Amino acid sequence: MANPTKYLTQLDPADITFSGGVLKSTAHDDIYFSVEDGLAEARHVFCDGTGLSDALQTHTHLVIAETGFGTGLNLMAVLAEQARLKTSCQIDYISFEARPLSVYNIEQAHRPFPEIAGFSEHMRAQWPRRWPAVHSFQMEGGSVSVQLYYGRAETILPNVNFYADIWFLDGFSPRRNPDFWSEKVMSEVGRLSSDSARLATYTVASTVQSGLSSAGFMLEKRAGFGKKRDMLVAVKEASGRQKPSHSDRCEDVIIIGAGIAGASIAYHLRAAGIQHLILDAGVKSYPPASGNPAGIVMPFLSVEETLAGRLSISALSMMRQFVERHDLILEDSVIALDLPEVKIGRHKKLSQQGYPADLMRVIDADEVEALCGIACGSGGMFHETGCVIEPPAVCDVLKNDSLLLDNVHVEALEALDEGWRVLCDTGMFTAKQVILCGGAGAQALIRSAAVGTDRLQITSGQISIMPDCTGLSDITRPLNYGGYLMPARAGSQICGASFALSATTDITNDAHHHNLALMPKILQAQAPEISRFSGRTSLRLAVTDRLPLSGEIAPGLSVLSCLGARGLTNALFLADDLVRRISGRPALIDIPLQHALDPKRLRSQ
Ligand SMILES: Cc1cc2nc3c(=O)[nH]c(=O)nc-3n(C[C@H](O)[C@H](O)[C@H](O)COP(=O)(O)OP(=O)(O)OC[C@H]3O[C@@H](n4cnc5c(N)ncnc54)[C@H](O)[C@@H]3O)c2cc1C
Ligand SMILES: C[S@@+](CC[C@H](N)C(=O)[O-])C[C@H]1O[C@@H](n2cnc3c(N)ncnc32)[C@H](O)[C@@H]1O
Repeated sequence: MANPTKYLTQLDPADITFSGGVLKSTAHDDIYFSVEDGLAEARHVFCDGTGLSDALQTHTHLVIAETGFGTGLNLMAVLAEQARLKTSCQIDYISFEARPLSVYNIEQAHRPFPEIAGFSEHMRAQWPRRWPAVHSFQMEGGSVSVQLYYGRAETILPNVNFYADIWFLDGFSPRRNPDFWSEKVMSEVGRLSSDSARLATYTVASTVQSGLSSAGFMLEKRAGFGKKRDMLVAVKEASGRQKPSHSDRCEDVIIIGAGIAGASIAYHLRAAGIQHLILDAGVKSYPPASGNPAGIVMPFLSVEETLAGRLSISALSMMRQFVERHDLILEDSVIALDLPEVKIGRHKKLSQQGYPADLMRVIDADEVEALCGIACGSGGMFHETGCVIEPPAVCDVLKNDSLLLDNVHVEALEALDEGWRVLCDTGMFTAKQVILCGGAGAQALIRSAAVGTDRLQITSGQISIMPDCTGLSDITRPLNYGGYLMPARAGSQICGASFALSATTDITNDAHHHNLALMPKILQAQAPEISRFSGRTSLRLAVTDRLPLSGEIAPGLSVLSCLGARGLTNALFLADDLVRRISGRPALIDIPLQHALDPKRLRSQ
């Protein structure tokens, strides 16, 4: 599906100079923060200007939004204030940055402020890759969740939705960066504010004042920091836009299914401190797709900007960090071959789109051979940050000590006045919130909640497990083509994966032949006899539009399913987004993606 709102443009270089301890943008000919004392400036303008200390002590949850993340010094000031006050306030910090800096430059810029050294180091350890995407990371044991949009704020803001309690406007001088302070941007700031939201900025430029007034803010000039005479603070007039209650909507949750979708939901519910129970049919169900011994995590880039492509970059950013942190990578990086041959043109076009090299890089046949140790007869794309994982091991880490009842088959769901009754073969449970993550098994449960499933499609997929043999097992990197071939491990080597419109989990020679036929011809010739193959067949669920289902399908009933052939890359990110949304926090995915993934689309024909 083509994306109606394009903004997956590549990021501009940071273009900075650092001289005499002063960080300056050459593109905007302006400094990042006061040469006198940037941290004191952040405190005076942004923290004091918005009444942050009071807000931290009177709120259980705050949404702080910022235009212009830069080195993150304002975030550092917020963290220091939160630590000083020892509050339990949960913060969602949302910021926008068009030209992300390197960790090296951030470290340099923060060096004069030893007080925030610990926070800065923690942030830099999680610093997102330079990909056009929304990235997120946690600070202070998860009490501060940072959502960092890499891209131009003026393009992204109209496509997101949240309820800011506090705004920091920090984007170079309006004269030198007018687009960032335009009336349109100020009106988005107004749209995204809760009633009585507080805002601060160091500029008193008349264009900014008039933009903010038109956007519904009441303005007040205050004494500026250091040599600056004035600064601006503002309060949003009431317009009936109240932030949804943070915790009321989501106290207890039943998750149905413990594959990568359910395990990812459990991971994020645990992080949010929300009670939950996982029910899984275990041996009473089909073999779960997430039970395969190996699977590929990689971006799915498209020539024309698509929602699925954009989703995969943000999702890869989160998944890659997770598997790195937990040491869950079986094979690092993935080569996508120019096979079938139509991909040659596609890869060439992608190479002209300026993607960062750690996301994708076009390579020729010689480099393919050098990187994977065997000639494949074609060039391709190198995904340095792709990887192979062992899905059951990843699910175990995600589930950790979440409460799981295994071998419980959920048969039906019944809506209650408040919440849902979950009818199982072993008894029943009730919960205010239920999240369906049952993979192919979700189809019957969606139907039992009186939602049509005509647009859902189950496909059967078999992987072939070949004995280790000379030739093919010399491959040192995973190869992706119409199918995939993994490097040999522990005496066997996996190739995949068949795709049949059926719900059978039989293991067949036809599917082995299919998997072999997907392989480049030059490799097929080196494969062992099919009679020596074993296999594993499981089921995928997909919507006919090939996009996942993620969101509420009925009050209190949500779905994360239909992950198709990309669940291992996308599940963790989508689960984070869904958990945020059902607990009244800002979504991670933008409005076009929310609409495209909305399970309610199953109701419309
Ligand atoms: C052969 C094959 C190869 C693949 N390779 C890749 C790959 O390389 N990379 C990639 O990203 N993706 C790959 N995929 C897709 C990926 O595996 C799936 O998208 C993902 O695993 C789906 O996860 P899930 O949690 O939605 O479903 P599942 O993993 O199927 O888990 C669903 C769980 O729900 C439980 N359940 C079902 N019904 C009920 C019920 N009524 N009551 C209680 N519990 C229930 C099941 O027991 C199961 O544990 C592949 C899929 C297949 C089939
Ligand atoms: C004044 S600096 C931010 C200073 C910040 N306090 C810090 O700690 O560095 C402004 C930031 O806004 C970013 N920026 C400028 N124009 C932008 C735009 N259109 N969209 C998003 N970010 C932008 C710049 O790249 C820069 O990092």
